[in-house]
Amino acid sequence: MFGSILLVPMNKLAQLFENNKAWVDSVLKEDPQFFKRLSQQQNPKYLWIGCSDSRVPANQITGLEPGEVFVHRNVANMVNHTDFNCLSVVQFAVDILKVSDIIICGHYGCGGVKAAMEGSGLGIIDNWVRSIKETHYYHSDVLDKIQESEGRSDKLCELNVVQQVLNLSHTSIIQKAWSQGQSISIHGWIYGLDNGLVKDLGVEVSSKKQLDKEFLIRSKVRNS
Ligand code: CO
Repeated sequence: MFGSILLVPMNKLAQLFENNKAWVDSVLKEDPQFFKRLSQQQNPKYLWIGCSDSRVPANQITGLEPGEVFVHRNVANMVNHTDFNCLSVVQFAVDILKVSDIIICGHYGCGGVKAAMEGSGLGIIDNWVRSIKETHYYHSDVLDKIQESEGRSDKLCELNVVQQVLNLSHTSIIQKAWSQGQSISIHGWIYGLDNGLVKDLGVEVSSKKQLDKEFLIRSKVRNS
């Protein structure tokens, strides 16, 4: 039984192993202790919550090395209060790793956001992004004024990031951390697939007090 698994030809993925070997060699050339040191502990300052889209890799975009950013990715960079996958990552990052900053990074042209906008019938993903429809509805006054559908979906990509910043800020994990005086800032960013640049949406939240201003925060992005 296991033999048949081993007989699966490797050549399709051989390039990846070659790439891996070349990468290890180049890292060790620069820093012979790199992997030894990293295997003993990780001490990232940042948690990245981003989209699963293959064009938005957290480390490459931010120029961070292995060990420097803890990463969670899902379709359309969602923070749902019933998603134990995301919540487990957040709790580990906050309680154990004690990250100082959490970045929620969306991207323009996000297929998940478009699926929510267009009701495209992609299958289970429609359930996953359903709450983006609520964000769409909530901001329909602003979105309906945008003529072009790409511009409309890009604005919804921004508004979705803001919504996820708020969702994360309201989790019991973040609320407890702030109550205990832990210093954590949550940031909303968006990435441009066509130019590689990250834009700060200016929705940083670092305390419960700032959350009271959430409507102002939303309107900043709404009116830009
Ligand atoms: Co996406």
